[in-house]
Amino acid sequence: MSTITHYDLLLAGLHLATLDGDGWGEVRDGAIGVVGDTLAFVGPVDSLPAHASWTARRDFDGAWATPGLVDCHTHLVYAGNRAGEFERRLQGVSYEQIAREGGGILSTVRHTRAAGPDALADASRPRLAALAAEGATTVEIKSGYGLERETELRQLAVAKRLGAELDVDVRTTLLAAHAVPPEFDGRPEAWIDVVCEDIVPAAARARLADAVDVFCDTIGFTRAQARRVFDAARANGLPVKLHAEQLSDQDGAALAAEYDALSADHLEWLSPRGVDAMARAGTIAVLLPGAFYALRETRLPPIDALRAKGVPMAVATDSNPGTSPTTSPLLMLNMACTLFRLTPQEALAGMTHVAARALGLRDRGKLRAGLRADVAVYAIDEPAELAWRFGAQPCLGTLRGGVPHWTEAR
Ligand code: NIG
Ligand code: FE
Repeated sequence: MSTITHYDLLLAGLHLATLDGDGWGEVRDGAIGVVGDTLAFVGPVDSLPAHASWTARRDFDGAWATPGLVDCHTHLVYAGNRAGEFERRLQGVSYEQIAREGGGILSTVRHTRAAGPDALADASRPRLAALAAEGATTVEIKSGYGLERETELRQLAVAKRLGAELDVDVRTTLLAAHAVPPEFDGRPEAWIDVVCEDIVPAAARARLADAVDVFCDTIGFTRAQARRVFDAARANGLPVKLHAEQLSDQDGAALAAEYDALSADHLEWLSPRGVDAMARAGTIAVLLPGAFYALRETRLPPIDALRAKGVPMAVATDSNPGTSPTTSPLLMLNMACTLFRLTPQEALAGMTHVAARALGLRDRGKLRAGLRADVAVYAIDEPAELAWRFGAQPCLGTLRGGVPHWTEAR
């Protein structure tokens, strides 16, 4: 095996939290060598190959490098805002009640349908840019605010376009079964017919969706309806995910497990049976502390049971206008620890390699030679600091597929 000795880019003066091996996978006085879009060297600077050379080099002063963050659950492509609804919720009106009155998701649907592709991109671009500025290098974006074929596909196309514009690896998920559109009020089965027979195949044909998701809940869809959408996804060659057990226990996670879903997400109401089903199938649990916080939930996801049964836990922003109007992945690391009692290490693993698995990606999420060169660099003294602070912005920049995006010197 020949050892690479010339790097397109060498980063040095760094400590590394590789997340490879035990604990943080810590390497003091490390270096990272990149060839093309791939990590070619990850290790102590003094074990760089003799005669190593590089085309470009950047030296840091003891900053920390981690794998690029993977935000595996967002709804960030939408128009309008829901601040008024927030004010009503503060007066005691519930999220479910607002949804039943035709607000909530349907209010964002009205604004999103009315926005053309450019307006939708302009509204959404700052949100994706904010995630990237904190270290996100891969971001999943769902549709679900169109609830008609044209606007669902427009959301997905805008998501891909923003990924290309901002050089973030965007993965798209079709969530046409997010709510019953006004045109189908009282006829959810008829809407599911359209989703299965028309929208899932159209998204697959246009290669606009990497996965299919369903909101399975009292204000969403039943388990039987989710099953129909999963069958359609399977018939069209797309993997599935599920918004499961967020507001009530629908036994959705077990359905997700049955369909080899990439993940089941939210999970505040997950039952022991659901935990077992996920453990058996290897389904990733995606925890969304921003939605838990914003809805002032009191019922915690069963973290101890998930940990005890070895269900991998991812953490994501759920960036959306209704239940998690945040664009801060680092704040979610803090909330995952403070609200859900994850350790800082579990939280960072949850937003890197575990999150990558929740998107079906095995080529990223750790700092290891051979993996994709997605790296985040932070001005911190130790890795737990990422989860300890909240409201801080220590990110000095990222490599995304080997391409540097440095923020201004600070
Ligand atoms: O993940 N639960 C359903 N979907 C989103 C909220 C969408 C909205 O309220 O606009 C969520 O919490
Ligand atoms: Fe969500």
